[in-house]
Amino acid sequence: MFGCVREGAPPRKLTVYCSVQLEWCELLVKTYAAQTGVTVAMTRKSAGETLAQVTAERRNPRGDVWFGGTGDGHVQAAEALLTEPYVSPRVSELHDWARDPAGDGRTTGIYLGALGYTYSSDWLAKKGIPTLTRWTDLLDARLEGEVQVANPNSSGTAYTLLATWVQLFGEDHAFEFLQALDKNVNQYTQSGAAGARAAARGETGIGIVFLHDAMTEKAAGYPLELVVPEEGTGYETGCISIIHGARHLAEAKQFVDWALSKEAQELGEQAHSYQWPSNASARAPAHAVNLDAVKLINFDLKRWGQKSERARLLERWQREVREGR
Ligand code: G6P
Repeated sequence: MFGCVREGAPPRKLTVYCSVQLEWCELLVKTYAAQTGVTVAMTRKSAGETLAQVTAERRNPRGDVWFGGTGDGHVQAAEALLTEPYVSPRVSELHDWARDPAGDGRTTGIYLGALGYTYSSDWLAKKGIPTLTRWTDLLDARLEGEVQVANPNSSGTAYTLLATWVQLFGEDHAFEFLQALDKNVNQYTQSGAAGARAAARGETGIGIVFLHDAMTEKAAGYPLELVVPEEGTGYETGCISIIHGARHLAEAKQFVDWALSKEAQELGEQAHSYQWPSNASARAPAHAVNLDAVKLINFDLKRWGQKSERARLLERWQREVREGR
């Protein structure tokens, strides 16, 4: 179905903005190009950065498809009509949570992953702290300068943390906790998975990350513990959207159909990305985090992805947490 290269036809092109880990982005476009003959240009950026780019390019779109990254950015892009309605024929193959995350047919779920935090067992032993099990354990004064998390303006991971705490604790308490956490933060990174890599390599004590990003490091042999916070936690619906005004619309639709297939979704595991795939027939990665053991909140993506809430929370975070330092 995807493998036809028409003789004498002009070369087909596609530009993909990719917000998952680089290894997965590269494998994805390499495999797709080899199967279809389409020339694919790919740029990897975090979710908030990609949303900013798509917004800035709205009058002259350069990208065709946005693959991956947390659903809040895709929901906000859908609301601003920056993306194109497209219901792939493969939608019937997907889990319910992935079929129409924005409620308007402009984005589709590709994967799901739960938020938590990670630390190396060696580090905790040296710190003399017996165990960490809760979100509020991260506010302990003994953890000053020991926590790494991304900046929610650039990172969908960090925005998911912000929206998760607001849903778990109520907005004012969430901001009190974020201010207390700030005392323990050594760096707000640009990308969400950076804290997992840093914890694995001893560059930070704790990283607040998607658990699958911590699992990538653990499976590579680093002695990481994964904490599923006892209070409950949020999750991401990683999405795919076609950019409104895409120069290569037919190719973009074909890419979306392919990306939602069982075969394409199983590439994530080969690239050491261990999210839960949205295609119900796709094999879950052997290292996927068992979500039965995770107390997931009922994450209200439509609400916390809409611009009025997302922009307001980010502005409040900037004012009360970042600039209040
Ligand atoms: C990593 C995770 C993805 C997530 C993405 C968000 O790549 O593996 O599941 O969607 O981060 O990236 P960001 O840098 O925006 O937090």
